[in-house]
Amino acid sequence: MSMDRSFKEDLSALKDHLERQLQLRNQGIMKDKKNTFTPGRKTEKPKVNELGKDAIENQISLNNKPLPPSKLEDIHRELIDCRRCRLCETRNHLVFGAGNPQAELMFVGEAPGADEDLQGEPFVGRAGQLLSKIIAAIGKTREEVYIANIIKCRPPGNRNPEADEIAICAPFLDRQIEAIRPRIICSLGKFSAQTMLSSSESISRLRGQVYNYKNLCRLVPTFHPAYLLRSPERKKETWEDMQLIMKLLGNNLSES
Ligand code: URA
Ligand code: URA
Repeated sequence: MSMDRSFKEDLSALKDHLERQLQLRNQGIMKDKKNTFTPGRKTEKPKVNELGKDAIENQISLNNKPLPPSKLEDIHRELIDCRRCRLCETRNHLVFGAGNPQAELMFVGEAPGADEDLQGEPFVGRAGQLLSKIIAAIGKTREEVYIANIIKCRPPGNRNPEADEIAICAPFLDRQIEAIRPRIICSLGKFSAQTMLSSSESISRLRGQVYNYKNLCRLVPTFHPAYLLRSPERKKETWEDMQLIMKLLGNNLSES
């Protein structure tokens, strides 16, 4: 009996997954060329009001349909003993992500550092403490938002992640985003912004703008809190980015 039931549940989860994939593929096909950010080309950076606001709102609301809450846990389960790349050999803990599985705002950093690797939690070191202050400054708590990284395991000595590690790990971030369906992602630092936007532009040029992330949500890049610790004079720009995020979150509320 119970076998039968769990088989049915598996089948229903598979059906949800396939429907979701189909929905995403259709949106990819429907995607207006003007809505895409073309990396590496000298094109005007698209601002959200140039992107065809109605089209984006429609796509985002389509994507905001609730999914079974177990989805994020399923992804976590798939990753717990991950040995897909060499980083598994040196990690203490895989750092999956933390926060509200239905957050409207998500922060995405680069990769765990030493503290995160020891605790299995994202952004718990010095940079993490600054991130907590940034989150508090926009009137939110760490529990209300979701915090994750592009790379789930610490690169030894905090070296930059390598191309194959990114290629293996980044699809899991996209699956987390699909499960959480945030309205806005704030990418933290150069690596996160460049990876998520497939761009080689500097973070100074990428920040302060609103991008469409794979027709799933909006993306606002800002500086990495570890960089702000070294260059506190850039906090002003980060604050401007946070105000932009608050405006986007607020705007939508007043429209609905
Ligand atoms: N830096 C990151 O990019 N992510 C963390 O989780 C911690 C520090
Ligand atoms: N370099 C980074 O990696 N991130 C920043 O935010 C700034 C410089």
